[in-house]
Amino acid sequence: MRMRILKAAASLALAAGLITPALAEEVVKIGLILPMTGPSASTGRQVSAGAKLYMAEHGDTVAGKKIELILKDDTGTADVTKRLAQELVVRDKVNVLAGFGLTPLALAAAPVATQAKVPEVVMAAATSIITEKSPFIVRSSFTLPQVTKGIAQWAGKNEIKRASTLVTDYGPGIDAEKTFVEVFGAGGGEVVSTARVPLQNPDFGPFLQKVKDEKPDAVFVFVPSGFGGVFMKQFRDRGLADAGVKLIVTGDVTDDDLLPAMGEAAVGVTSSHHYSAAHPSEANKAFVAAFEKANDGMRPNFMAVGGYDGMRLIYEALKKTDGDTNGVKLVDAMKGMSFESVRGPVTIDPETRDIVQNVYIRKVEAVDGKLYNVEFDVLEAVPDPVKAAAKKG
Ligand code: DHB
Repeated sequence: MRMRILKAAASLALAAGLITPALAEEVVKIGLILPMTGPSASTGRQVSAGAKLYMAEHGDTVAGKKIELILKDDTGTADVTKRLAQELVVRDKVNVLAGFGLTPLALAAAPVATQAKVPEVVMAAATSIITEKSPFIVRSSFTLPQVTKGIAQWAGKNEIKRASTLVTDYGPGIDAEKTFVEVFGAGGGEVVSTARVPLQNPDFGPFLQKVKDEKPDAVFVFVPSGFGGVFMKQFRDRGLADAGVKLIVTGDVTDDDLLPAMGEAAVGVTSSHHYSAAHPSEANKAFVAAFEKANDGMRPNFMAVGGYDGMRLIYEALKKTDGDTNGVKLVDAMKGMSFESVRGPVTIDPETRDIVQNVYIRKVEAVDGKLYNVEFDVLEAVPDPVKAAAKKG
């Protein structure tokens, strides 16, 4: 009798909305904010496909909770990113914010993450400073200083004595330029000139003409993912290679998303980066095959891997907290996490919340008739050098 009364009381309370049904609590919501349209749409396409592939392979239930991915298009505009982050936190009550295709977009969401105490998993943007803007930011992508150091050292050791630089004029480009100038200079190289082009509608022509006249041994270039094709065409049309100027770049330029369409101009270009679709591990071969199969033959680039590994961080953190979605606990769980990624071994530095990873030196070559960044050397377990230097003092 007592049991029956208790049960009746419970169902009444439930009907009156006094008790939240257990089911409603068992969903973990991830707000994925990406540029799905606009000039950086390829980043959105790649990161979201990487995140979705991870879920397809690992299921949508973790630690007894259902994972719900809510994808929003910020069009690459920081105001929109910020508004979407606020809406996702306040209205949709997401437990994690993720994505962030460009530096200004990652920065715009940082105060929202801090205030809401919600983890912000940066899967794409790569300016060093980003992780310092909120204790809730964890990065699964890379930093420009981290990937630039390798090519700057390689240049100094490979008969490049005089070099010019050409970068996109915002956070990651300025990071790349600074690192190249410092590291190449420390190795005895001479920097002939530095140039910056706008992010919006870049015209590389005048800068390339100037470089051609200066005749350095090489020009070092950074442009963000999605812009490498336009750059490569102008580099070829201006005849820099014929004038004897070598092209050295970060892997953002010889982007796997665009490389198959770049043609002859890209062959022989040397770069350094943390991921190549041609990385020769079994895990990567399986990843590339599964990604291409799920996306109409689209080749994964480094952005796809940022999305894939970012989801892995979230899944593994939830396992560690046993499904607890408290933001501080989730970020703590991600700190120090190590695993074998399709790019090679990675660790989340527990102090900086930035990713420590291998950086490979690669050359564009045709493999079975298609262009790839073929790795031929590696710098192991590279931290973000800016933060490593600050730590040393
Ligand atoms: C950033 C964007 C890119 O597409 C890239 O390749 C590197 C950095 C950025 O905005 O941080």
